[in-house]
Amino acid sequence: MKRRGATFTFWGALIFFATVAVVVMVAVEMYVYVDKKSGGDRKVISIVMLFTILFLSLMCTLADIVRRRKMIDRPVEQILDATEKIAAGDFSVRLAPRHRYGNYDQYDSIMENINTLAAELGKSEVLKTDFISNVSHELKTPLAILRNYAALMKVEGEDKEKRDKYADILIGAAKRLSDLVTNILKLNKLENRELTPELKSVRLDKGLAEAVLQYEETIEKKQLEVECEFDEVTLFTSEGYLDIVWKNLLSNAVKFTEKGGKIAVSLKATEDGAIVKVSDTGCGIPPEIGSRIFEKFYQGDASHSGEGNGLGLALVKKVIEILGGEISVESEKGKGTTFTVILRNGE
Ligand SMILES: Nc1ncnc2c1ncn2[C@@H]1O[C@H](COP(=O)(O)OP(=O)(O)OP(=O)(O)O)[C@@H](O)[C@H]1O
Ligand SMILES: [Mg+2]
Repeated sequence: MKRRGATFTFWGALIFFATVAVVVMVAVEMYVYVDKKSGGDRKVISIVMLFTILFLSLMCTLADIVRRRKMIDRPVEQILDATEKIAAGDFSVRLAPRHRYGNYDQYDSIMENINTLAAELGKSEVLKTDFISNVSHELKTPLAILRNYAALMKVEGEDKEKRDKYADILIGAAKRLSDLVTNILKLNKLENRELTPELKSVRLDKGLAEAVLQYEETIEKKQLEVECEFDEVTLFTSEGYLDIVWKNLLSNAVKFTEKGGKIAVSLKATEDGAIVKVSDTGCGIPPEIGSRIFEKFYQGDASHSGEGNGLGLALVKKVIEILGGEISVESEKGKGTTFTVILRNGE
């Protein structure tokens, strides 16, 4: 919380006090002076005092108007202008506080908060437009495939083998679309905390073994060697959330490892949880890409960009964050990649 002073400051109070004192003193001095000069004539004293009081009141009113204009109306106008612009969608608005940081009054603090609000809204606007353009981009390719191959299926006289091939391509494109939608919805729900992890005692070794088995067919097709080394570990955590993690890490390991490569999955018990490592001898991640792989829609490896939407690791990161764990990656281009997941008991 920023330090902020009240708009009614010590100096403001002092000026008010001094003004009242001066007015009373001038009125008293005037009374004494007129009393002396008029020889105590009540009528003259009354008239002169009436005009004196009217004059002093007018002066005070004018001074107050100037003070209000400078100290209240001007900042309020600036704040109103800024909020109107923000409401109309202009998030480039920035207000300059009138005092130095540390001497802020309440108006300065409101201005500073408006600046932060505009900056945050600007950021989320950029995220929103980026998101829309990313989704549109990811939709375009599979939709083009669906349209073109559906047209090819209609060509008369095409042999069965070719038609089967087209049907497989259509199924692949449809799957990519449905994965895209499922992952966007899942990520959205996780980010908005609409899903709550269902915590229970989970055997991690069993979950990991089942996840590896799900990729059996591709593993065989690519003749990958798979090495699993699992401690028997039970954690109080969410089975469904961990399933998302294992599935995505394994799908990447299988996808980014060339034929005949090796994948190693290990699970070690630690004092307060477990460490899981998923390694592969695949294409690796160049150091300049680094942790960008965890960003939504980021796909570093263009040669595999047709096989996914770049949402897998964003989901994994979010899930692990919710479970209170950590994920890190070590990789060497051309040699392979290791993802390390640290999990702690949720109890
Ligand atoms: N094991 C790995 N080896 C090499 N590169 C990897 C590996 N895992 C992830 N990457 C890089 O990180 C990028 C992002 O991975 P992520 O899982 O988020 O997306 P994806 O696999 O391309 O698509 P999706 O997961 O949506 O199917 C990948 O495109 C790839 O460049
Ligand atoms: Mg992936």
